[in-house]
Amino acid sequence: MKVKNICCIGAGYVGGPTMAVIAQKNPDIKVTVVDINASRIAAWNHDDLEQLPIYEPGLDKVVAEARNRNLFFSTDVDAAIEAADMVFISVNTPTKTYGKGKGMAADLKYIELCARQIARVAKSDKIIVEKSTLPVRTAQAIKSILHNTGNGVKFQILSNPEFLAEGTAVADLMAPDRVLIGGEQTEDGFKAIQALVNIYATWVPQENILTTNLWSSELSKLTANAFLAQRVSSINALSELCEVTGADVNEVANAIGKDSRIGPKFLKASVGFGGSCFQKDILNLVYIAKSYGLDAVADYWEQVIIMNDHQKHRFASKIIQTLYNTISGKKIAFLGWAFKKDTNDTRESAAIYVADQLLEEQASIVVFDPKVTKQKMQSDLNYLNTRSEEDNAQYLTTVPEPYEACKDAHAIAILTEWDEFKTYDWQRIYDQMQKPAFVFDGRGILDQSQLKTIGFQVYVIGK
Ligand code: NAD
Ligand code: UDX
Repeated sequence: MKVKNICCIGAGYVGGPTMAVIAQKNPDIKVTVVDINASRIAAWNHDDLEQLPIYEPGLDKVVAEARNRNLFFSTDVDAAIEAADMVFISVNTPTKTYGKGKGMAADLKYIELCARQIARVAKSDKIIVEKSTLPVRTAQAIKSILHNTGNGVKFQILSNPEFLAEGTAVADLMAPDRVLIGGEQTEDGFKAIQALVNIYATWVPQENILTTNLWSSELSKLTANAFLAQRVSSINALSELCEVTGADVNEVANAIGKDSRIGPKFLKASVGFGGSCFQKDILNLVYIAKSYGLDAVADYWEQVIIMNDHQKHRFASKIIQTLYNTISGKKIAFLGWAFKKDTNDTRESAAIYVADQLLEEQASIVVFDPKVTKQKMQSDLNYLNTRSEEDNAQYLTTVPEPYEACKDAHAIAILTEWDEFKTYDWQRIYDQMQKPAFVFDGRGILDQSQLKTIGFQVYVIGK
């Protein structure tokens, strides 16, 4: 089967870039990305590519090439579903905030709404692709909703989890380590799998396209994120031990990373991992394990989250303790708010939790981030519900320029590893700060000896 018309429900961090690349690489396929969020769709359609709703290096060029050629962004969800032979579901699957599984399970209400909408609208056979990250066996629920339409339309369901990381989404999509496609192991299932393989095969080498059954595919996604996050928590756990023993976590990471069985990636100690995926997906894995009665499995993976919370808390405590156990009324400059560099995404960013803890001690925080807006920072803090919105707005402010953020500060905390932080005039920053001038490098990106020569008191995670 040759796919001619794709619809993607959900124009977010995954749907937008993924469909832009699929459209760019398959000019003969019409790709329509739809969303109920009208302002997001308007931003995707904005003439000024700087106004795209998400910031990803290289994305503007891909969108410029494909948009209005064979890539379209629309709020008309029904029309796009009806016209498509293949529908990707790329909506959000956040952690549940209510009812059974609250704080652990994935909230699948948006997925179910999509399935019901497809069932209602579809008049011709379609392949439905799970692009969102889903608990293992979700395809069964989608299938049961779709197969009960009674209008004779046939559906095949595929699982095609996305492995892109934010900040490198375009590069990851252009040259993925692998593309994973799971489907029913039946004749019709194999045909559907092949239809999706053909789309990726226009630019991904065949040997990097893996096909498997639905459940292995669904579970592989949660597993990949759990393993990656586990590496970060493992090195972060060791960073604390390094600090009390005189070992240097970078040296340890370098030494163990040379072992080809371990490998060098994802061994960077930090203030803690953030992002919309790691915590949510591990909690989901823990919940699934618990629901099968596998308590030892659940407890094992939960430690990855517990260690991450500890690391964020430890960093904030280090700041408080170093500033003579009192930060009330002291100005603390935050460089970075995003959960990693090269993205404007702040979901679960360590900065939010560190700020919250410092605000509890009545610090006055001034933030500079190259890509995150003031409104986003405030809404991130307000979401925690720790204090009133007015207090958050009063005690955490945002400036558009780093030197202003650091002026008269007692301390600077590096929360995101933006490259530009390394190139600042640190002498100028030092001259304008309160003394002693402290730097807390939560990302290990600054030149510690240069800072010390200037006169800074420096704390770096894991040293
Ligand atoms: P997102 O919140 O950025 O985007 C989801 C979009 O879906 C939103 O714009 C929302 O308005 C829209 N939506 C929700 N319900 C809808 C409906 N019924 N009809 C139309 N639109 C609807 O989320 P995201 O970061 O793109 O993540 C999407 C999925 O991909 C999640 O399951 C996530 O776990 C997974 N994932 C994310 C990443 C990542 O780096 N962000 C990477 C891999 C996988
Ligand atoms: C992750 C997965 O990498 C990706 O495959 C999946 O599709 C979505 O989730 P993402 O969250 O976008 O991607 O970014 P990632 O690069 O994995 O970083 C996650 C967090 O871990 C960030 O806060 C990052 O700063 C932190 N991290 C990462 C470290 O602290 N140390 C490291 O060595 C690597």
